[in-house]
Amino acid sequence: MNKEIETKLRIDSLAMHILLSAIEGNFDVWRENYDLLDINDLIWINSGIHNFVGSQQHFNYEGVKDLIDIVLNRVPELDIIELGCWKGHLAKRLLSEFTNKEVNTYVGYDINYPAIDQSVVNDSRYITIKMTDWFYNYELDSDILISCHTLEHMNEAQIKKMMITINESSLKYLIFELPFNYKGLWNGGNNSHILKLNSEEFVKIMEEYGFKLFTIIDTTRETREKIYNQWLFGLERIR
Ligand SMILES: C[S@@+](CC[C@H](N)C(=O)[O-])C[C@H]1O[C@@H](n2cnc3c(N)ncnc32)[C@H](O)[C@@H]1O
Repeated sequence: MNKEIETKLRIDSLAMHILLSAIEGNFDVWRENYDLLDINDLIWINSGIHNFVGSQQHFNYEGVKDLIDIVLNRVPELDIIELGCWKGHLAKRLLSEFTNKEVNTYVGYDINYPAIDQSVVNDSRYITIKMTDWFYNYELDSDILISCHTLEHMNEAQIKKMMITINESSLKYLIFELPFNYKGLWNGGNNSHILKLNSEEFVKIMEEYGFKLFTIIDTTRETREKIYNQWLFGLERIR
């Protein structure tokens, strides 16, 4: 068999194995093989798992809103992009809160196509992008990027590539929410979490690529079953 076809078949069956294991609640195969996957595999797995996992709505609304209020004091009109928008719940709340003058446009990116198809947003300022490529290959021409509970699904190399793209873009502010543990350490990896950094290492990478922290908020949330340690980072451009 042709080598190229053989490799493709191997990866396709790996993606199928990852999807079926994840549906059964086992994400180990996903984490262990993440680096072998290309963007099409990830789109296929994330879209495929959609009907089998619960709500993916994790952002801390009050925290994100407070950070946007700070940014609006410095830049009175904003174009926003969101990476990992899922069904648009954050966009829906923010757009109902901020006037057309404060927020001009809001673009939600995601690799989960069914989630985008089930958008809950009905606002002419909102558009979605069903991603067909890695985020770092898109041209980003907005003022602020929001991404909650999404960067932990990427690896360090992808975060660095994303920061190169961000640094070359017009983006001035970044709002990221991520699950680091109570000491700001890497939380050990669960579900489809890939990123193996602690919060200090994360902030250092942000600085290397031209953004510094202007605030950090502990947004830890508690459900009946579990405490989710998480942090919201507000970053601004330094160069
Ligand atoms: C845990 S959900 C968080 C959804 C929402 N941001 C929130 O906080 O409620 C993660 C989202 O990121 C998306 N995602 C995961 N990896 C991604 C990647 N490499 N590029 C873009 N989106 C990704 C998933 O499809 C999913 O919609």
